[in-house]
Amino acid sequence: MKRKVTKAIFPVAGQGTRFLPATKSVPKEIMTLVDRPLVQYAIDEAREAGIKEFIFVTSRGKSALEDYFDHAPELENTLRKKGKTELLETLKSTNMESGAIAYMRQHKALGLGHAVWCARRLLGNEPFAVMLPDDVIAGPESCLKQMVEAYEETGGNIVAAMEVPDAKISSYGVLDVAEDNGSIVRTKGMVEKPDAGTAPSNLAVIGRYILQPTVMNHLNKMKQGTGGEIQLTDAIAQELTDGRDVFGLRFRGQRFDCGSKAGFLQATVAFGLARDDLRDELTEYLEDLHTLRTAAK
Ligand code: G1P
Repeated sequence: MKRKVTKAIFPVAGQGTRFLPATKSVPKEIMTLVDRPLVQYAIDEAREAGIKEFIFVTSRGKSALEDYFDHAPELENTLRKKGKTELLETLKSTNMESGAIAYMRQHKALGLGHAVWCARRLLGNEPFAVMLPDDVIAGPESCLKQMVEAYEETGGNIVAAMEVPDAKISSYGVLDVAEDNGSIVRTKGMVEKPDAGTAPSNLAVIGRYILQPTVMNHLNKMKQGTGGEIQLTDAIAQELTDGRDVFGLRFRGQRFDCGSKAGFLQATVAFGLARDDLRDELTEYLEDLHTLRTAAK
């Protein structure tokens, strides 16, 4: 029997410089996509996948994130008194069970691998998930849940994977494919942000991982990789050297890169259009825009 995956690490220590000046005082992870903070999408996806313990690796200036996960009794009371039951339910659905959430500070920005390593003492000797909230994945089925199901078959380590165009591949961790079974890919290597023209494939790592605790042994070595940072990709690649499996899962769903402004805007439109209360008005607006643009041509 494989150990169930019940713990997830959310690395949220980044400074979010691409979203300045907003991120001067607001952590990027609580910037809103329609009406929910970015991080809530990852939390909901994790819950659907059976995650029970949520470990946030934070940094200075992220207290608003911790507050977001706290209960809000005054606000709940106000809504209750006013009979706003629907809003009350929305609010309650974001409450985290006491003890289910933990925060760990990353004191220095030494890379994603280092951020994950900071959570090592909270993990114990069991497989764990890592979720990067910048990658928002929409679809009828939680991406992490698909990975947990795949993991139950394959064991080993699994990363979410997606084909990206040549021009963009150098922004990602990239899989070196040994065997391609369609949705599941067995890898023989992984490279973080390869130089243009040197990527082993077009299959990029997207920010969802199920990892074995042995990955921490590699991170312990604090070896710097691409950009002088301690890379999670390198530690996962070491698993292959040690004879353990690393798979890629081509997940079902649409991924938005909310670490970029264009991606954030696209996600805002897509999630807006998916909402019953916003669809009509937004569609009308977008159609008007389209008409205006084509008329101007
Ligand atoms: C990180 C990982 C990279 C992965 C990407 C997915 O990079 O290091 O391997 O492909 O997330 O979004 P970052 O985007 O933080 O530079």
